[in-house]
Amino acid sequence: MDFIRIYADRTHHGKEEEILFRDLNKRPLSAEDRRVMNELIEDHVFGRKITKALVDANSRYRNGDEIALAEIAEKLQTLVEFYPKHIDKEDKVFFPAARAYLTDTEDQAMLAEYWEFDRKMIHEKYEALVEGLKRSK
Ligand SMILES: [Fe+2]
Ligand SMILES: [Fe+2]
Repeated sequence: MDFIRIYADRTHHGKEEEILFRDLNKRPLSAEDRRVMNELIEDHVFGRKITKALVDANSRYRNGDEIALAEIAEKLQTLVEFYPKHIDKEDKVFFPAARAYLTDTEDQAMLAEYWEFDRKMIHEKYEALVEGLKRSK
């Protein structure tokens, strides 16, 4: 769950939504490219929804609800089927198309912003952990 939430969602989707999509949103995207970008954003929302359901089912299971195990398996299966399709859509369709809207300089500036985003992530993760521990006292 930590990997899905912190890496896949916050770190990876975070860079897409807060940097790439943010910048592309200001560009004159073709109708098709905009449609795919919106679909990718919806995919992220779907991924979060399934992940949340998985976390909920997991805590029910840990609290003794045996039935939750089937739901855990089902949500994991959903993620296993969902992510490769999402990644394919990005890597094979959207990212190559999106690159055409950026100059090399803009592309490099975006890359630098990704590095900075990643650099902050470990601090964000552990600051949130400490804040959570403070709240649970
Ligand atoms: Fe994505
Ligand atoms: Fe991605």
